[in-house]
Amino acid sequence: MPTALTQDIFQKTLASEKYTFFTDFYYHTSVESTNKTAKKIMQTKANTDTVIMAAEQTHGRGRYTRHWYSPPGGLYLSFILHPHMNKKHLPVLPLLTAVSVHTSLSEYGLAATIKWPNDVLVKNQKIAGILLETQAPDSASPIVICGIGININNNVDTLPPKLLTPATSMKQELGQTVDLLRFTTRLLHIYEKNYRFLKENKPDVIIAQWKQASDTLGKQIAITQHYRTIHGVAVNIDADGFLLVRDLLGQLHRVTSGDCQYIMDAR
Ligand code: BTN
Repeated sequence: MPTALTQDIFQKTLASEKYTFFTDFYYHTSVESTNKTAKKIMQTKANTDTVIMAAEQTHGRGRYTRHWYSPPGGLYLSFILHPHMNKKHLPVLPLLTAVSVHTSLSEYGLAATIKWPNDVLVKNQKIAGILLETQAPDSASPIVICGIGININNNVDTLPPKLLTPATSMKQELGQTVDLLRFTTRLLHIYEKNYRFLKENKPDVIIAQWKQASDTLGKQIAITQHYRTIHGVAVNIDADGFLLVRDLLGQLHRVTSGDCQYIMDAR
């Protein structure tokens, strides 16, 4: 039976892992949203890559102002990142985050896939979602809040029935409870390894992993952006991390953000 987490245990355990980039660790039993907490902490800390975890969120946020259902049992994490790297690699960060979650789940034997840009699925059901928010994107040193929600020990039958994508959890798929702290410790190591690749100007390593895990490439999709919807086939991810969509007229679109829906399976 894993010990109940406290700020003290969380901080000491993660500090003993000797991460290269992450140096500060905060654990909360309940917050509105770890991304919101991250934005507050960010004001008081210059240049410190920080991890915030909560046992539950009362107002967990998803992409496009959706709600992220966050009962105890799930993993709710936010990173405050100061990505000192070539700014042209920043669009790869969402892919890097999805790839890191994907690898963590694979280590437990789960056959996960990634739906563009960063939903992680198991058997076509959503197991993890990612919300990146960039502060001062046009400044020389933007700060990125990277929020990760993973259904770990959630009972799937307590999740709302009308979710946009049907959901599952690790516990549901594995038939057993997962040690949240151990999972998190490993996820941070995997994240740091991938983050280093980006700092070393090797986005190709991340993009290759993303393509390998992709659920989206080859499919007929609709990408909804604020002002338009692009219909076409997801043909590739380019060297900068943009999704390439070929529309019905054969025109190629480079897309970095948007809401992706599958129209039909083109394979
Ligand atoms: C999505 O798929 O719509 C993104 C979900 C992101 C949820 C995580 S949970 C931790 C962090 N805090 C939040 O309020 N949201 C993100």
